Amino acid sequence: MRSARVISNIKSSLVQTPAWQRLVVHHNDMQRVHMMDLFKKNPNRFNDFSLQFEGILLDYSKNIITSKTMDHLFYFARKQRVKEWRHKMFTGGNVNNTEGRAVLHTALRNRSGQPVMHNGKDVMPDVLAQLDKMRAFTDNVRSGEWKGYTGKPITNIINIGIGGSDLGPNMACRALCPFADGLRVHFVSNVDATQLSNRLAKCNPETTLFIVASKTFTTQETITNAESSKNWFLAHPDVKQSDVAKHFVAISTNKEKVEAFGIDPVNMFEFWDWVGGRYSLWSTIGLSIALYIGMDQFIEMLEGAHAMDEHFLNEPFDTNMPVILAMIGIWYGNFFGAESSAILPYDHNLRLLPAYLEQADMESNGKSVDRDGRQTTYSTGKIIWGAEGINGQHAFYQLLHQGTLLIPTDFIASVNNKSCNLENHGNILASNFIAQTEALMRGRDAKETRLQLRNAGIDMKEIEMHLPHMTFQGNQPSNSIVLDSLTPRSFGSLIAMYEHKIFVQGIIWNLNSYDQWGVELGKKLARNILDELEKGETLYEHDSSTEGLLQWFFNRRK
Ligand code: F6P
Repeated sequence: MRSARVISNIKSSLVQTPAWQRLVVHHNDMQRVHMMDLFKKNPNRFNDFSLQFEGILLDYSKNIITSKTMDHLFYFARKQRVKEWRHKMFTGGNVNNTEGRAVLHTALRNRSGQPVMHNGKDVMPDVLAQLDKMRAFTDNVRSGEWKGYTGKPITNIINIGIGGSDLGPNMACRALCPFADGLRVHFVSNVDATQLSNRLAKCNPETTLFIVASKTFTTQETITNAESSKNWFLAHPDVKQSDVAKHFVAISTNKEKVEAFGIDPVNMFEFWDWVGGRYSLWSTIGLSIALYIGMDQFIEMLEGAHAMDEHFLNEPFDTNMPVILAMIGIWYGNFFGAESSAILPYDHNLRLLPAYLEQADMESNGKSVDRDGRQTTYSTGKIIWGAEGINGQHAFYQLLHQGTLLIPTDFIASVNNKSCNLENHGNILASNFIAQTEALMRGRDAKETRLQLRNAGIDMKEIEMHLPHMTFQGNQPSNSIVLDSLTPRSFGSLIAMYEHKIFVQGIIWNLNSYDQWGVELGKKLARNILDELEKGETLYEHDSSTEGLLQWFFNRRK
């Protein structure tokens, strides 16, 4: 745990609570247990530690847990008042206390017809009005009725945004590409002009529509990319200022800034400060998704997320997917000392899921002060990382199998992979998906390795030399999450499941998972340094490294 710079002297006492201490004692009993022995003792283990929700299987049996472990973890969750906080979130309470905001992304997918109250007002009419506006607009653009400045229909959409205004819609579009039926959708996030220039070079201004997506509409990268895109557009012959309205729309909570940028508020899609950026793909920020797959499919995605919300709200802890995943994560992070967790989708279309969850999880729970301003004395958010599973097998899995770190993993796959449609590919993919969790758990002991080498005709001397290198203990935990198939609905459920997992962990650690003060300082310092780079001289006081870097840029740039 980071220790050199303690910010607050008041310490949280979570680790002294009986619920925590029970888990400490239980961990002493469990830390040397091998999962293979747990499976030998209980042949019913798969049934005992798996559950289904609408065609999504969660198999969490390959974890270093017993039913006693889960009892202790659920007791801990009860003591941390997960139920009460869950209620508070769904009913518009002040969950984001440092910003004085509710956390109501669940209202965006509320399909129940029930009101959702916030500050004494039902938010649902506004939510539904924005959905109607999205439908009218997307139908218009997709049908070709919406025309560009030369009267041609739109063929390409460029979403300009970053963080939550990019990662969610980008991931969703990749995941749901089998449902796309016409428009091409692209995402530009980086202020490194390479990304925007490369994209613009391939687009025709007559048929390109830009979505400027920014909750605050002040994000430097997004506004810079949006201005450059507008300049590129206006630089084309015969383009008039008034044509901007046909090619630029905005999604934001900040009407004034949108107007100041030059986008007519009529072409602005709204959302609200009670939607966190990293939880916003369900809002109008999902406009690119709706343009790509159509509004009906977008609603399906909301339905899937809503179904998971209901599951999270109503299921008891021991059959509640987000709660189970969260508490298993707590078990490894706080008691086994795991520092990271890998997301391994065996589905090319889910390849952006790890990047999306990096933001969702690490921006939410990467905090060392609790919601009451006390320094935590326990570790909190883990490093979330990952990549497409099958590629990872030929890259970093060596460390998962034989390294010194405990790294809990989530393996994700679909039984019927709509786009993996070439003969044999699907079975190869699925066999690797299943085999890897087995291998991570089993490992290979000396006896088995010896036998294998002997059968391969290797002589005894060589066998003994190879033995330590080819033997490994296994016992690496994994969750397997298997979708019947990746559809807008199951995708919605999957993402909502992770959102709620993150929420539960934040509650356990007594964090505010919905602010992100940590990212502000870098932005502020970058503004100062930009000033210095533009003026070509140092204007602020810096340490010698920062000063040295600045001088390096001054002296060497051409
Ligand atoms: O800097 C971090 C952050 O504020 C994220 O939380 C957010 O998703 C991203 O920047 C983009 O913000 P905006 O949508 O306001 O442009």
